[in-house]
Amino acid sequence: MPRGELLKKLFHSYSQGDSQSFHEVAGEIIRDEESKNNRVLANALRRNLGSGQRPLALPDKNNFTSRKLAVVPIERDKQLPLVDTIQPERRASDLILNRNNQRLLLSLLAEFRQRDVLGAHGLRGRSRLLFCGPPGCGKTLCAEVFAHEVKLPLLVASMDTLVSSLLGETASNLRKIFDFAAAQPVVLLLDEFDAIARLRDDETLNGELRRVVNSLLMLIEQFRGQGFVIAATNHERQLDPAIWRRFDEVVFFEKPAKAEILRLVSLKFRNFKTDFEPASVADFLAGFSHAEIERVCLNAIRQAVLNQRNIVSKRRFLESVALEKRRRDIAGRLPQ
Ligand SMILES: Nc1ncnc2c1ncn2[C@@H]1O[C@H](COP(=O)(O)OP(=O)(O)OP(=O)(O)O)[C@@H](O)[C@H]1O
Ligand SMILES: [Mg+2]
Repeated sequence: MPRGELLKKLFHSYSQGDSQSFHEVAGEIIRDEESKNNRVLANALRRNLGSGQRPLALPDKNNFTSRKLAVVPIERDKQLPLVDTIQPERRASDLILNRNNQRLLLSLLAEFRQRDVLGAHGLRGRSRLLFCGPPGCGKTLCAEVFAHEVKLPLLVASMDTLVSSLLGETASNLRKIFDFAAAQPVVLLLDEFDAIARLRDDETLNGELRRVVNSLLMLIEQFRGQGFVIAATNHERQLDPAIWRRFDEVVFFEKPAKAEILRLVSLKFRNFKTDFEPASVADFLAGFSHAEIERVCLNAIRQAVLNQRNIVSKRRFLESVALEKRRRDIAGRLPQ
């Protein structure tokens, strides 16, 4: 192997705390020097390496308080990070959920907080979650809130980097991401999960991609990290049915019903007065996603501020609703 490749591998194995691979590569470099008759250098390297397979300083897997993460895995072809690390900021009060989802997520949090109690009985909390549902209903937001609640960093896997790399590398990228997520307590978010998890028998997929889906199934199934893996998609119907079974829990994020619309409008107007009650506009917002309702509220507030008003009138709010409907109509006419 060329020297440059060996050095890259050496540094990479060090950064990953992969003791075995580090020693294998170091041994290869030493043998290479010996074969070039550079005995003095080879002996010095051998002495420095030591004879034992001493482990490298691996991240302390039980240290929940230190937020220091191992070095982020890199995509080999493009040399880009495979995950973005986010310190979650949004909290439970920013998220409007229906009663069922609220209950479900609270029970998942309780399991995490009492993992020692479960562990003492040989049990594990549910940690592999699939978030489904239409766009703008809080899948990504909920992953961030969830990470905030369990006080873990949020790692967002970059699907573009992962999939558009050299095909042969995709499965290895997935493994690197899962290894990274298992080595420390984190919430790993595979956002737009359908980009990789399409049906295995999709005619348009070639054999390589099918193998990628299979290895993804295995990685999800075998995930035993201390944190969570959350996969999010708004194309749940396109998912391979075998994928569903691999998750401990599937959470559907639906468009808000009337009760959630009222709570969301109140939340968005918590710092700005209105001359109407949320209940009087709720019917106009039926069928809108949370993100659309948020946009309606923020647009109405923006217009009030620009017109030097410190209160949003019902008329201005309904204008903003009409604007959002127009936007939807245009979006509906665009090719999907
Ligand atoms: N349930 C919710 N409660 C409060 N705000 C929400 C909710 N859902 C969405 N929002 C607002 O809309 C924004 C976009 O939502 P988010 O990105 O979570 O949607 P998504 O379900 O992940 O959509 P996509 O399928 O397009 O990725 C959020 O950042 C938040 O401001
Ligand atoms: Mg999203």
